[in-house]
Amino acid sequence: MDAKKEIEVLVRAKYPILYITSWEERRVEQAVRDVALGLNRQMHTWSVTQGMQPAVRRASGPVKASSLPGELEALAQIHESAEFTVFLLKDFHPYMKDTRVVRLLRDLAARLRGKAQTLILLSPQLTLPTELEKDVTVLEYPLPERDDIETQLTDVITAMVDTPSVDMSLTDELRESIVRSAQGLTADEIESALARSLVEERKLTVDKIIEEKKQIVRKTGMLEFYPSSSSMKDVGGHDLLKDWLEKRSKSFTDAARDFGIPYPKGILIIGVQGCGKSLVAKAVSSAYGLPMLKMDVGRIFGSLVGQSEQNMRRAISIAESLSPCILWIDELEKGFAGMNGGVSDSGTTARVFSTFLTWMQEKTKPVFLIATGNNVAQLPPELMRKGRFDEIFFVDLPDTKEREEIFSIHLKKRKRDPKKFKIGELASITDGFSGAEIEQLVVGALNAAFFQDREVTFKDIKFEADNQVPLSRMMSEDIAELREWARLRARPSATYGEG
Ligand SMILES: Nc1ncnc2c1ncn2[C@@H]1O[C@H](COP(=O)(O)OP(=O)(O)OP(=O)(O)O)[C@@H](O)[C@H]1O
Ligand SMILES: [Mg+2]
Repeated sequence: MDAKKEIEVLVRAKYPILYITSWEERRVEQAVRDVALGLNRQMHTWSVTQGMQPAVRRASGPVKASSLPGELEALAQIHESAEFTVFLLKDFHPYMKDTRVVRLLRDLAARLRGKAQTLILLSPQLTLPTELEKDVTVLEYPLPERDDIETQLTDVITAMVDTPSVDMSLTDELRESIVRSAQGLTADEIESALARSLVEERKLTVDKIIEEKKQIVRKTGMLEFYPSSSSMKDVGGHDLLKDWLEKRSKSFTDAARDFGIPYPKGILIIGVQGCGKSLVAKAVSSAYGLPMLKMDVGRIFGSLVGQSEQNMRRAISIAESLSPCILWIDELEKGFAGMNGGVSDSGTTARVFSTFLTWMQEKTKPVFLIATGNNVAQLPPELMRKGRFDEIFFVDLPDTKEREEIFSIHLKKRKRDPKKFKIGELASITDGFSGAEIEQLVVGALNAAFFQDREVTFKDIKFEADNQVPLSRMMSEDIAELREWARLRARPSATYGEG
């Protein structure tokens, strides 16, 4: 049911107090006004700066000056008002801590019940004392949906179409992508983004809308917009993982929904250091053409008790409002460390973690989660249960053929022709090297050659390889343990995996 309709039903059904959460005062006020008008009710709005507008003529007499604090006066006026009214109180949440306010609201609930009088609290956050839980009906006013955005865009075009200095023509494709990318913004934000686009570009563009979204993400501090810097072509090996991802690249479209495919939930990538876990995560964003958000789990844990859970919920809701998108949590185990060890932080980690798990299980919005990590001992087992991730992949050291590919990728990246470097031989002498280490061999060789004012050769890379011990040799026990863990729980990312 759409939110305006729901307000109308609740007002008509004489619910005494509604609590609407939304950032969009203007839009909600307009909706409430429409509802009031349609039901032939008077409407009064209140805010701390404006007071009651228009002032209420009390049933017991005319408006009189009051010595009460504003918020109490407002409630007193509602108490004494006549029927067939709707009151909209803006940003009333700070006063909900006051016991007198809470008591008055409870009295009001009893008084208004069954009467054609409704009190609506509107604020961006939900602050509801336990005492009021049974008296107040909470509803969340959703951000503009597709149709609303379409209408808004059409209005802008109609208003501006005759302005000679701007080009208001839109291809169907551009129109569609503007509407899609504007989802998750408030009506005011959409208006600003469109206006900004017209001022700066003299036409409507998607870029400015994306800019606006970046703003929102920046303000939160827990999430970061991650530019899609690498593509799947930059990833050597991992054929099974790449294939799995590619097969789902169309699963975020409407056509996939019609076909009966649910949104992919996400994957967990576990594996040996420097073997491309983070690289794959970054490449997914460009492969899917979706924006990517990176979550900083460390920052979720605020300093105040109880704040961490709220932070997590907020981060989740921002990610959802930006959907379809990719949410990347790097080094997952660091964020949720201590979950197994029972480190005492009065259960905050556990609660935040459970908020997160519940969301993973129940999320319906297309937020594709990519979690990466390499210390499985610290990962809570609940995370691995079926239904949380679509798949758990294990990323091992590259085998000979994969190493060839990785050499080739990093040589090409530095504008060298791999054919001139005997990469077959390089691959065979670099058993145990990770992708990151192979990249370092190439970079090291380039540096050495450049220092001697000559072009880099096969020999330079071989020299680097001969003089370096790969990390995996020192960590063979850890890697063996990791493989054993993965053998039972994860899917290999590549066909060969070893050697
Ligand atoms: N399979 C690969 N193909 C191409 N390059 C690779 C590959 N693996 C690693 N690299 C190179 O090494 C760099 C570091 O790898 P990445 O950060 O993805 O490793 P990781 O698995 O996330 O390691 P960590 O566990 O330390 O976080 C990459 O940016 C890339 O340049
Ligand atoms: Mg990494």
